[in-house]
Amino acid sequence: MGFAMRIRLGLFVAGVVAAANVAAAGQSTPAAPANDDCLTCHDAIAAKRFEASIHGPMNCVDCHADAAKELPHPERLAKAACGSCHDDVAGKYHDSIHAWAKEKAGLLVAPACADCHGKHDIAAHTDTASRVYRDRIPATCGG
Ligand code: HEC
Ligand code: HEC
Ligand code: HEC
Ligand code: HEC
Repeated sequence: MGFAMRIRLGLFVAGVVAAANVAAAGQSTPAAPANDDCLTCHDAIAAKRFEASIHGPMNCVDCHADAAKELPHPERLAKAACGSCHDDVAGKYHDSIHAWAKEKAGLLVAPACADCHGKHDIAAHTDTASRVYRDRIPATCGG
């Protein structure tokens, strides 16, 4: 095999590998945006506090599902869907007077999940930092 032939064969092999990579990338579903992708624009979200929260291991798009579809995302997004994971609690909530006030009576100030639990800093209800920790419940309800 001459030198030129080896070069061409080398280029051919490299070309096949590159084409295979492109094909593989085309077949796999695009990766969901990483939290860092969101935080490049949303640096006001306290990443450290979020990571320390009970949802810290989660992806932003686990709650903000429609932000995963395309970036940049539309200006208005759907509300975070807590019930997609907490369907048991969401079921109880929908039977409660708070949901009735919000959904049936149209009382927009009635509390939804995040009004009692918070957004990016949610803690277990047994954690003293939780808004629904026993001793803090009066203040949370008072709000
Ligand atoms: C290129 C910049 C950019 C990137 C990247 C970005 N956002 Fe946004 N986002 C914005 C802008 C601009 C707004 C509208 C103004 C505002 O509320 O800050 C917004 C608003 C939002 C809102 C509020 C929507 C509403 O209806 O009020 C949420 C939630 C959100 N972004 C989540 C995310 C998540 C999750 C990601 C990562 C998947 C992400 N964003 C990536 C720029 C960005
Ligand atoms: C456990 C669910 C959950 C996760 C995970 C989550 N968020 Fe949110 N986020 C919320 C809730 C609840 C709101 C209040 C508005 C709503 O209900 O959608 C909110 C609001 C926002 C807003 C609008 C501004 C504001 O503070 O109200 C932005 C921007 C945002 N989130 C970005 C992010 C980014 C970036 C991440 C990942 C680092 C993230 N969120 C992870 C629940 C979540
Ligand atoms: C009116 C305030 C309020 C609203 C609205 C509310 N919660 Fe709670 N939640 C509480 C309190 C208080 C506790 C602690 C109960 C206890 O100490 O036993 C709690 C406990 C929880 C727990 C842990 C205990 C369990 O049963 O698993 C989860 C998870 C939870 N809530 C999720 C949600 C979700 C999701 C929503 C919306 C569908 C929601 N909450 C709406 C006040 C609220
Ligand atoms: C992608 C799934 C997912 C979504 C969406 C989600 N959570 Fe959670 N949540 C979890 C997991 C996992 C835990 C930790 C295990 C547990 O305690 O249930 C947790 C824990 C909690 C706890 C602490 C439970 C306790 O023991 O006191 C509360 C409160 C809570 N979530 C509220 C919310 C609220 C409010 C939203 C919407 C803003 C939400 N979650 C969205 C998965 C989720």
